[in-house]
Formats: sequence, structure tokens, C-alpha cells
Amino acid sequence: MTDTRHLIGLLLGTEEDWPAAFEKILRRLGPVPGAGGRSHSFDIERITIEPFDLRDRPRYHLVIDRLAYWYYHPREWLKKIALMDGVYLLNSPFTFQSMEKHAAYCAMMRLGLNVPDTVLVPYKNPVDNARYAYTSARYNQSFDLDAIAERIGYPLFMKPYDGGAWRGVSRIRNPEELHAAYDASGEMLMHLQKAIDYDVFARSLSIGAETMVMRFQPDQPMHLRYAVDHSFLSPAVGNDVVTIGRLVNAFFRWEFNSCETLIRGEEVYPIDYANACPDVALTSLHYYFPWAIKALVKWSVFALVTGRQPKLDLETDRFFAIADDEGASFPEKMAAYRRLADAYFESERYHDFCATRLPHLDEIVLDWVAGPDFDQLLVDTVRSVYPAHEHDQFIAHLRGLLGLWVRDESARLGGARQDGGGR
Ligand SMILES: Nc1ncnc2c1ncn2[C@@H]1O[C@H](COP(=O)(O)OP(=O)(O)O)[C@@H](O)[C@H]1O
Ligand SMILES: [Mg+2]
Repeated sequence: MTDTRHLIGLLLGTEEDWPAAFEKILRRLGPVPGAGGRSHSFDIERITIEPFDLRDRPRYHLVIDRLAYWYYHPREWLKKIALMDGVYLLNSPFTFQSMEKHAAYCAMMRLGLNVPDTVLVPYKNPVDNARYAYTSARYNQSFDLDAIAERIGYPLFMKPYDGGAWRGVSRIRNPEELHAAYDASGEMLMHLQKAIDYDVFARSLSIGAETMVMRFQPDQPMHLRYAVDHSFLSPAVGNDVVTIGRLVNAFFRWEFNSCETLIRGEEVYPIDYANACPDVALTSLHYYFPWAIKALVKWSVFALVTGRQPKLDLETDRFFAIADDEGASFPEKMAAYRRLADAYFESERYHDFCATRLPHLDEIVLDWVAGPDFDQLLVDTVRSVYPAHEHDQFIAHLRGLLGLWVRDESARLGGARQDGGGR
């Protein structure tokens, strides 16, 4: 049997938990059968940062990037390997240049989605550029912040246009708070956005063709934000949430992204749809962590074995044609968007691939999560994240949640295994 070897590169910042899990699972997976009797094997490496000649050929066939959103040397390397070498990237640096919230809001509004009313106001403080004083004196229009807020209506949110990790986000109830927040915004560029009084907050994590929709509790401390809840949305709302996430991802060619939606009644309001480096930490995802690792492994292997080609062009016209179809109702447009997104992610082929080529992966991951190796990762992760006096509490907390996952997953896989009781 001919063997094709693929090298996966991880471009990492400070994370240890999911990369270690990803490496372990990929190694346990072993060779995967491809078309024409070929066998595919996978090597994995953590990428180091060093000078590169622009004509060097990279050794990697696929790169998962968690670093380039703030570190520009690897970002430029990613652009080079995308443009010159066709390396498959999660995510492409070209598309995540649109990973400010702003571009995602624009795309979603253009596609007819229910983004709350949003206004972008100019910088509060002068921009650090010698030309600013002249330009602003000549061209900056004075504006009435109060009038904008009145028009949107209180309460509203003021938050950075590029956002992330709640930096600079405030909820504003009146003109005093409005001015205090704007004065404090300094060099940040801010959106004002109508506050949605929501019933439920759904956070979905998409990895390639898969999406996990989770009930999110933003007011809770980090380790309690994701609730384990399998049926918190009506089927129709759940379907809309998945469709919007896939749609935005397909539109921008994002393959590893998280999305936030606020739900009031049957209305779905997308508010945060662009996270170049979505949270996949064991300590925050807990019960959902094995799903995330499995989805990352499956999507990487699928892309490599099937020779999926990265697409740099966005083909926005195809999405806009649906948006502009005057004869179609909103549900019909959503169904059409979903078909387009599923076609981009080759959903059917992907699920068929997982069922036929990776039938043993579920068991491999279950075995691993139920075993001592994973427990060690859990303990090491807690020790690296929390202060010493909280270690016991968080180790017990995570063991409980992962033990629950092991029980649920064992039942799902047909009760073939019983939880050993170790956790
Ligand atoms: N329009 C809104 N209505 C209600 N809550 C909001 C709104 N915008 C933001 N929030 C709250 O603020 C949090 C942070 O805002 P978000 O846009 O997600 O920024 P970040 O990128 O920093 O996560 C959200 O998780 C949500 O709890
Ligand atoms: Mg957010």
C-alpha cells in the first residue's frame, strides 16, 4: 500500500492543553485509508519562529494557527505559505484580517441578519500620526454623541470594533455613562450597539463542517461559563444559530471560529462572530473539550486525505445573490445560505469520510479521556492556570465534568464501555 505522509504544523502562543491533546489523539489514530488504496500518515510539529527566505518551500501541509493574530512575523510567513505554497491553513491570514467584529457585522447585515443597530464613532483621542492634526481639523466632522445614543436607545453597549476577551466593553444606561465610557476609550475605535435584553446566550464553536452550540453564561466566572445543557434552544432557533455560524464562516473562509448569539423568544441576534483564535481551553470548555479536539483532528485529516484545496477568494456574489432574491422569504434565504455553507464545507462528504475512514476515532478519544494520560493533562493544566490553593477544587470540578462526558459518550457509543469509576 502506498503511504502518503502529511506534516501538520501548530503555530502556538502559550497554550499547552489542546495542542497536547491534539498530538496525542493524532498519534493514537495512526494511518488512515484514502482513495485508491493509499494510506495516509500524519506527523505533527510545533512550528518555531525563525528567518525565512520567501522562496523557501515549507515542510508543512496544514497549519493550525493560534499566534498570528498578534505576532506579525509568523503572520507574514502564513501569508507567504498561503500565496506561494498552497498550504492548508486554519485560519487563512487573509480572511482573518477581517476578523474585527466590524467586517462580520457588515457581512451579516448585508446578508439580512438581525445584527443589533450599530454605529462606529471616530477615535476619542488623536491618532498617533503626524498628519492627524491637519486631517482632523480639515475633515473630521463634529458629532453629537448624545444624539447617536438617543437614536439607538438606552441601554446600549460601547465596545471596540475589533473586540476580544471583553476588553473595553461597557454597558451604558445614560448620558453620563456614555461620556465616561467614550472618554475612557482613548485610542480604541468604538462601536455603539443597541443592547439586547436576551433570554439565552448561545456560543457556538465551529471547526470545519462541525458546530457545537453551547449555552453560555457570561456573568459567571470562566470555569462556569459553558453550561452542560443539550436542549436549551428550540429546534428552529438551534438550526438558525448553526446556519448563521456556518454562513459567516463560509462567507469569510474561516474554519476555526466561535460565534455569539443572543436569543429573545424566537429571534436570534448575532453579536460576536469573528474570533481568529477561539477559546478551546480545557478549563473553559471542560465537557465539550473532547468534542473540540476530535473535530480538529477530523477536519485536519479530512482536508489532507481528500486533498481539499484552500480558497483565498471569497466569491461574495454567490451569497449576495441569495440576499438580493426578492422572491425568497427569510426562511428560504436561510435554507439557501445553509446549502451554500454546507457546500463550501463539503459537509456530506466530510460526514461520510468520518464514518467510513475514521470509524474508530470515537473509541480512541473515549479511551484516552477515560484514562490516566488525560487525567495527567487535566492536573497539569489546572496547575498551570490556577493558584495553588485552588488546585484541588478545580481538579475535582473538571474531573466531575469530564467524568460526565465519559459516561454520556459511553452510553452514546452503545454502552459497550462502562465508566471505570476512576473519575
Ligand atoms: N448588543 C448587546 N446586547 C447585549 N449584550 C451584549 C451586546 N454586546 C455585547 N454584549 C455583552 O458583552 C459581552 C462582550 O461583548 P462582545 O461583543 O462579545 O465582545 P468581545 O469580543 O470582547 O467578547 C458579550 O458576551 C455580552 O455579554
Ligand atoms: Mg464575545
